[in-house]
Amino acid sequence: MAASDAREPLPQFPREFLWGVSTSAHQIEGAAGLRGPSVWDAFTAVPGRVKDGTTADVACDHYHRYREDVALIAELGVDAYRFSVSWPRVLPGGSGEVSAAGLDFYDRLVDELCAAGVRPVPTLFHWDTPLALADRGGWRLRDTAERFAEYAAVVAARIGDRAQKWITLNEPAEHTLLGHALGQHAPGEHLLFDALPVAHHQLLAHGLAVRALRAAGVTDIGIANSHGPTWPASSSAADTEAADFYDLLLNRLFADPIVLGRYPEGIAELMPGDDVEADLKVIAEPVDWYGINFYQPTKVGAPLPTATEFSGLTLPQELPFSPRELDDYPRTDFGWPVVPEAFTELLTGLGDRYGDRLPPLVITENGCSYEGIDDQRRIDYLDGHLRALHRAMEAGIDVRGYFVWSLLDNFEWAEGYRQRFGLVHVDFADPAALTRTPKASYAWLREALRAQRP
Ligand code: BGC
Repeated sequence: MAASDAREPLPQFPREFLWGVSTSAHQIEGAAGLRGPSVWDAFTAVPGRVKDGTTADVACDHYHRYREDVALIAELGVDAYRFSVSWPRVLPGGSGEVSAAGLDFYDRLVDELCAAGVRPVPTLFHWDTPLALADRGGWRLRDTAERFAEYAAVVAARIGDRAQKWITLNEPAEHTLLGHALGQHAPGEHLLFDALPVAHHQLLAHGLAVRALRAAGVTDIGIANSHGPTWPASSSAADTEAADFYDLLLNRLFADPIVLGRYPEGIAELMPGDDVEADLKVIAEPVDWYGINFYQPTKVGAPLPTATEFSGLTLPQELPFSPRELDDYPRTDFGWPVVPEAFTELLTGLGDRYGDRLPPLVITENGCSYEGIDDQRRIDYLDGHLRALHRAMEAGIDVRGYFVWSLLDNFEWAEGYRQRFGLVHVDFADPAALTRTPKASYAWLREALRAQRP
């Protein structure tokens, strides 16, 4: 018998709990010729950077098929849809002239969602920086944060009347680490610790955008940050020190400034600008909730003498830590360990760390990569993580919603189309049809949600 057939129904979540699915613009929209170029277009054009040699020029062609996709979301029975707005679709040059056609697309999408009774939850930045801004220095420059706030105001003026719940940035930690420090994602920079200004400018962009959104009348604002427990490879001083440092980069660098209004010790001095303290006041502009993207815990030890391969990444020797494989757990097709109890640990740990200062949480992403339409392993993953989430809530953590990553199989960044995270299968082998087929996990989630609302 499959594992989940034997399970009890999911525990009951609060009546007002928000259920949703997530996607991002670059990963699904396609219609690349109808927007300005982004750093991801330039990155994918370089042979060898995307493992299967593909691009997101067409992706799921959601730009043209959004009605079908909204119908799938409505039929699933979720309350909300988290999508991202493509900055270069709205402002092809990053700033200045607004594309009427670009804004019209999001207007149509939001109307379609509202008509279907699904709440639109836009994310303003999911890694697709306009190439025009990147060519001038991108997130290494403070100017990009200011341009971002202008862009936020443009989008809010158009769809802020119907979209009330907003996300400023998606995972600035990954964008800094993978995009600017290690070069595994666009824009492909290898700055290592010189990437810290990129972190600061994204945080500043977040704070400025919170202000711009509020000025435009938006009242319900958060950020989607990635988090996961860090487990030291051993109890040796060298391993725990390395793990603490990794934990600081992943779990505190982007959370402390937003939640506490300060950087972890020793970091503020490394940040750019004349007045980091003044910037921190902007960054700490109160959010209405704090979004968590959770996938996996990480085991971390002291640096090894040679460059390490980890999760498809080649990590340079200069790093003061080295992630290790977590061997004793099942794995997704991406090779990521499946550890639901780490989800509970993460959430209760945030409660311990931030206490009353912690805003209400929303799980803005959680999901897994598995092949196949009969995806029992995805059902097991989601079931296990929802139970783990419920345990954290029973322990007193205030969580207001949960968004599955992802609605559709999509362009999974440097992996191309090789990793499938969707509740709905997309037939990329037939680009003219791009047929959507709901998987077993889609049917399971629909039934689970029905049971939540007797
Ligand atoms: C990102 C998504 C990505 C997912 C799976 C998250 O880090 O926000 O864009 O597809 O992880 O890798």
